Formats: sequence, C-alpha cells, structure tokens
Amino acid sequence: DNKIQIALLGLGTVGTGVYKVLESQKEEMLPKLGVELEVKKILVRNLEKAAAKVDRSLLTNNWQEIVEDEEIDIVIEVMGGMEPARTYMLEALRAGKNVVTANKDLIATDGKTLMDAAKEAQRDFFFEASVAGGIPIIRPLKQSLEGNHISEIVGIVNGTTNFILTKMTEENMEFDEALALATKLGYAEADPTADIEGLDAARKIAILASIAFNSRVTFSDVYTEGITKVTARDIRYAGEMGCVIKLVGVARSTQTGIEVSVHPMLIDSRHPLASVNDSYNAVFVHGDAVGDTMFYGRGAGELPTASAVVGDVFDIAKNMLYHCTGHVNCTCYKTIPVKKMDD
Ligand code: NAP
Ligand code: HSE
Repeated sequence: DNKIQIALLGLGTVGTGVYKVLESQKEEMLPKLGVELEVKKILVRNLEKAAAKVDRSLLTNNWQEIVEDEEIDIVIEVMGGMEPARTYMLEALRAGKNVVTANKDLIATDGKTLMDAAKEAQRDFFFEASVAGGIPIIRPLKQSLEGNHISEIVGIVNGTTNFILTKMTEENMEFDEALALATKLGYAEADPTADIEGLDAARKIAILASIAFNSRVTFSDVYTEGITKVTARDIRYAGEMGCVIKLVGVARSTQTGIEVSVHPMLIDSRHPLASVNDSYNAVFVHGDAVGDTMFYGRGAGELPTASAVVGDVFDIAKNMLYHCTGHVNCTCYKTIPVKKMDD
C-alpha cells in the first residue's frame, strides 16, 4: 500500500501548522518519499472549536479510537503538557506506532522513559521541534556533528522572551504589551510563565546538553533565571554601554562536569547574538573539529515549528519504507556529572 496514515494529537498553534504543511506537500509526497502521508484522525478536546479548522470527520476526542487503529503508523503529539501526553506516547509506541513530538516539557524531564520505550518497540521517536522551533539543531548535533567533542553550546532558545526584549529595546514597548502580542502570534506557551521565567529555555538547553554531551541532563539541573526582573531602565543602561540584554542558555562540558544555565545576559551590540531579534533563535555550537558553528532561524510559531515536525515525519516515512525504524534523537546517558550552578 502506498499510503502511511497519521494521527495528530492536538490542533492548536503547532497542530494546525502541521496539518497545513502536510496538506501543502500533498502533490510532492509521492515523488519525494515514494509514499503518501495522510492525516486519518485528529485528537482534540473541543470538537466544535476544531471543526472550524478541518473536516469534522477527521476529529475525535477518544484516544482509544487512535491507539487501537492498526492502520495508523505515525502519531504526532502536539497537545503539550505532561499528562496525558506521556501516557498516550508510551501507549502509541507499545502499540507499534512511531512517534513525533514537540513537547520539550516532557523530553527535558522524562525523555529517557520515552526513548527506552521506542527502542524496545523498535519504533522511531523524534523531537526536532522541541528545541528552537524551525531551526534544525537536534538532528545536526546527533548526526552531522557527531564526530566532534562538543565543549560548548550558547543560544537564544526562547522566541517569546526574545520577542519581548526586542520590542522593549527597539520600540520602548511595555513588558505586558509585548507578552500579549507574543501570545497572540502563537509564540508563547499555554502558560507563558514557562517562557518569561526561563523554564522553557531551561528545558531546551537541557535537551541540547544531553545530546551534545551524550549524557543525561534534565530540567532540574539547569540554573534558571527569567526576564521578569529586567526593567526598561536596565535595557536603557545596557544600550548606553553599547550592549543589548538577551535571555541566553549556556551548556558547557568542563573538566569537573557539565554546567547548564539560563539567564539574562549583557551582549555587546557587535556580537552576532545581539542581532538575533523578534521570535528568532540562534544556537552556537563549538566542536573540537568543526570549530564554531551557528544555527539561526525562527524559534517559534505555527509554520516554523510545523516545518520541524513534518521533517521528522518524512524521516519516519523513509525509515518505514526501508524497514529500519527504531531510531531516537538521543542515545544519551554516558554519565558525566552535572554541576549544580546555584550552590
Ligand atoms: P496550543 O495552541 O495550546 O494547542 C494545544 C492543542 O492540544 C489544542 O488543540 C488542544 O485542544 C489540544 N489538547 C490539549 N490537551 C488535550 C487533551 N488532553 N486531549 C486532547 N487534546 C488536547 O499549543 P501549541 O502552541 O500548539 O503547543 C503544542 C506543543 O508544541 C507544546 O508541547 C509546546 O510546548 C510545543 N511547541 C510549541 C511551539 C509554538 O511556537 N507554539 C513551538 C515549539 C514547540 P483544545 O483546544 O480542544 O483544548
Ligand atoms: N514558547 C516557545 C518559545 C515556543 O517562545 O520559544 C517554541 O518552543
């Protein structure tokens, strides 16, 4: 059969983007992949709200209908939150389905359980969209840069806070107004506290550190400080010193262990990170062979995030065609100690 059937869990900002991108690729899928991808079911809570976006016949609020459907080979989790997302993904993997997720909350706290389940089930489990939205960063770290000893990752990995700081710096916008705009544009989390308190960036830097240092770094290992204490006056003083303020995530592999932190940082206006504005993200990676590399692009929002999710789905489709599923984005867990930064 020349068709791979998909279930989408969630039809919010990212889910809607994924549906649109898959629709826009319809004509090209067969020549590109040798197979067609079809969204068979979409799980939501509020059927009426979702029916305004897609054909009503695609919608369900019954998870069993999806997990028990043997024709569904790929489950895309874009609901967010810990539960029931975690249970659904575990059940999907155990039912023989491949899984793609954008859920950094879950990966940064309990990714190992999901990756172990995927390996055991010999199914793919990918999460490129969980860090830096549309920027390819997880797969490059895991594949193209794997021949390096990576010593440092420094990045702007939260679109909402970068958007707020940019608006406060360039347009003198108030914090609350900029946050409301970021929420309206679909950048912010369902609870934006995760963005402005630095928790979302901490989750992302934990995921990147785990992959880059082949170790297990979780959200609770990250020293975290958000942008809620940054004032208009701080921004003005920074400008007078020829600097801008950015929320930066740093992960370093040192002689004594891994250091991971997220905090507002003064950055010289001539530094490349200083010109990363609005919802854009950028990640510097230093490897012993490659030297410095920088990944840059849109870090949040409907279509950029969908781009990363659909890339994962295409990879799974290819692996299915070659009967070689069983890949995860991270092998991890060589144990390098993680230093507590707030000691
Ligand atoms: P969102 O706009 O709040 O959408 C969430 C969707 O999931 C809604 O359709 C909601 O349905 C559905 N949903 C939630 N809980 C459900 C449940 N228990 N059962 C069935 N459906 C449920 O969220 P989002 O911004 O798309 O984010 C989704 C995920 O992607 C999160 O993990 C987020 O961290 C991640 N992410 C987001 C972005 C971004 O730019 N937004 C970027 C990268 C990663 P109802 O509306 O019916 O409640
Ligand atoms: N809320 C997140 C951000 C979405 O603003 O970066 C992308 O992960």
